[in-house]
Order: sequence, then C-alpha cells, then structure tokens
Amino acid sequence: MRLAIITCSDTRSLAEDEAGHALAKRITARKWELCQHMVVKDDMQTIEARLKHCSDALKADVILTCGGTGLSSRDVTPEATLAVADRVVPGISEAIRQASLDITKCAMLSRAVSVQRGTTLIINLPGSKNAALECLYVCIDQLEHAADMMAGKGH
Ligand code: MTE
Repeated sequence: MRLAIITCSDTRSLAEDEAGHALAKRITARKWELCQHMVVKDDMQTIEARLKHCSDALKADVILTCGGTGLSSRDVTPEATLAVADRVVPGISEAIRQASLDITKCAMLSRAVSVQRGTTLIINLPGSKNAALECLYVCIDQLEHAADMMAGKGH
C-alpha cells in the first residue's frame, strides 16, 4: 500500500505539521509506504494539483488530506477534493463523522468528503493532531480492502 499525506494549511510548515507526522507514524507502523508528505496552502488550485500528482504520477492507493474542512472562508479542501473526483465514496466520511460525534459535537462542523480518483482513494481528515488520528482510526482497517477493490481484485 502506498499512501500520501497532504496537509492543507496557510500557517503550518512541514516541520510544524504535528498532525501529518502523527498520521505518517500510523501509516509506517503498518508497514505501508509513505510516498509523499507535504504541506500546501489553503488554495484550491494548489490542492487539486497536488492531489492529481499523488494519484496520477505517484500512484498512491490512498491520499489522506489533513485540515481545511471547516467553515472558514479559507477552508477549501473538500471543494478541491470533489473537483478531482471520479466518484464520491460517502460512507467513509459518514462513518468518520458519526464516530466523531460521540467524541465531540464539533464534528458536525466538518465538511470532509471521501472520493475515488482512478485507483486512488482520497479521504479528508481534520487538521488537529488528535482529531486527525481519531478519524483515521475509524477507517484505517478498511483501506487495504478499498485498495484491492479499486485495483480490480474484488473481495
Ligand atoms: N473530529 C474529531 N474526531 N475530533 C475533533 O476534535 N474537530 C472538529 C471536526 N472534526 C474534531 C473532528 C472541528 S472543531 C472542526 S472545525 C472540523 O473537524 C474541521 O476541522 P479542520 O478545519 O481542521 O479540517
């Protein structure tokens, strides 16, 4: 499994990307390959370009975005994700929001989406470290099955 992490933040540097590094640790702990970890500004075109690169050039099985899913005017990660999507995979973000609501009612403020682009699954996660990890835990055990199905291996 090849995974990429794209943190979307106007203020964070790669060194300061605590959430991204925490996600990376969980990925490598599973012996999955981390093919990219980058921080980009909250800019639609930039996010779209990086999502396309990780999907089409790097052939990531899964891209985790981190941050930019809230209600501020600069939060555009879901819009950028939908712009590069072939198909929406609503169940993943539904499950994440449902599980997250048991932890914090703030979860209803997330506009996160999950989509498929070719054989890549793109999942929006929130930007804080704890929130990102909580949301990853909800879906992490389904990622290999998802990658197999996208690759045409069936169940
Ligand atoms: N989900 C979980 N599991 N835990 C959290 O603390 N924070 C919420 C929500 N989802 C949260 C969560 C909050 S406060 C916001 S504003 C939205 O995610 C969007 O976060 P983002 O703008 O960092 O993407």
